[in-house]
Amino acid sequence: MIELRGLRKVFGDTVALEEIDLSVPAGEIHGIVGRSGAGKSTLIRCLTGLDSPSSGTVSIDGTDISDQSGSGLREARRSIGMVFQHVNLLDSRTALKNVAHPLEIAGVSKKERLAKARELLEIVGLGDRADNYPAQLSGGQKQRVGIARALAAEPKVLLCDEPSSALDASTTDQILGLIRSLRDRLGITVLIITHEMSVIREICDSVTLLADGRVAKTGKLAEVISEPGSTLAKDLVPLPPIGLDDLDSVKGSAGTSANLVEVALAGTSLPKVLNSAQSVGVGAEAILAGAVETIEGKQVGRIRFTVRSAAASKELITALEADGIYAEEAA
Ligand SMILES: Nc1ncnc2c1ncn2[C@@H]1O[C@H](COP(=O)(O)OP(=O)(O)OP(=O)(O)O)[C@@H](O)[C@H]1O
Ligand SMILES: [Mg+2]
Repeated sequence: MIELRGLRKVFGDTVALEEIDLSVPAGEIHGIVGRSGAGKSTLIRCLTGLDSPSSGTVSIDGTDISDQSGSGLREARRSIGMVFQHVNLLDSRTALKNVAHPLEIAGVSKKERLAKARELLEIVGLGDRADNYPAQLSGGQKQRVGIARALAAEPKVLLCDEPSSALDASTTDQILGLIRSLRDRLGITVLIITHEMSVIREICDSVTLLADGRVAKTGKLAEVISEPGSTLAKDLVPLPPIGLDDLDSVKGSAGTSANLVEVALAGTSLPKVLNSAQSVGVGAEAILAGAVETIEGKQVGRIRFTVRSAAASKELITALEADGIYAEEAA
């Protein structure tokens, strides 16, 4: 549904995007993460035709956006809905009329557009708020009106730029739940830009990490999270911070630092890891921290063991690796 091939975008001397190849199949929710300046907004601007690529192609539902201008571009844009971090609703219009606005611009009759807007407000759970003005709505409700408005032209693709970063945790959950149910009910393809790893974990089927304008990593969420030693995997399923007191209590008797071994739960399970560690006398009491999630029915995450000496840590890693489990010394 979304296809980027060899996308490159330069601004003067700045290379914002370079050699971007990305495919998002229909009905998938794809997340894009990356540090500030990585090129995320530029990518989304290329997808909407707001920026034109320096080279490469951007196609949505088989139409090459980068090739269009004027009425062709307007037509292509109708298949794209946009949701922003801050919704800019028209203050002088009710929720209903805000949602109907894009249809008004498209020349849809009043009766038809109001009926459609009412239906969309029902879908986003705001059927009873149709006559409220933006000032009478909460941040999350406004965001939902913004999503309903983005859906008015029945887009095939929904592009979301930090849709939840201005919202509190429970409102974020509601918005994410809504986006997922829209995908399930309408089959819409969703691209979400976010700096919140929790957003990726909760609703994305696949994820891309952008770094310095390039794709540093891309794949199905479960595969990316399972990759041993991957930085993105560590960001996606972070280990809880370890207190200094915890560390003091496990410091090796000979030295001043604890010997830590980190195990990736990938293609294996917690009991298998524990059995393997037990074979060299390392029991569950040696687990200092762990973060385990179940994604697509598989356990993914990491466990950090602490052992008494460097030799013990080598022995543990050897035993785990012999059982096909990825382990590394942790700092
Ligand atoms: N219109 C522009 N003119 C010149 N340089 C630009 C322009 N837009 C973006 N850039 C540069 O391109 C690079 C990527 O910017 P972009 O806005 O895509 O980053 P981002 O990943 O969205 O960052 P953030 O998380 O801070 O929003 C940056 O180095 C930025 O300075
Ligand atoms: Mg940005």
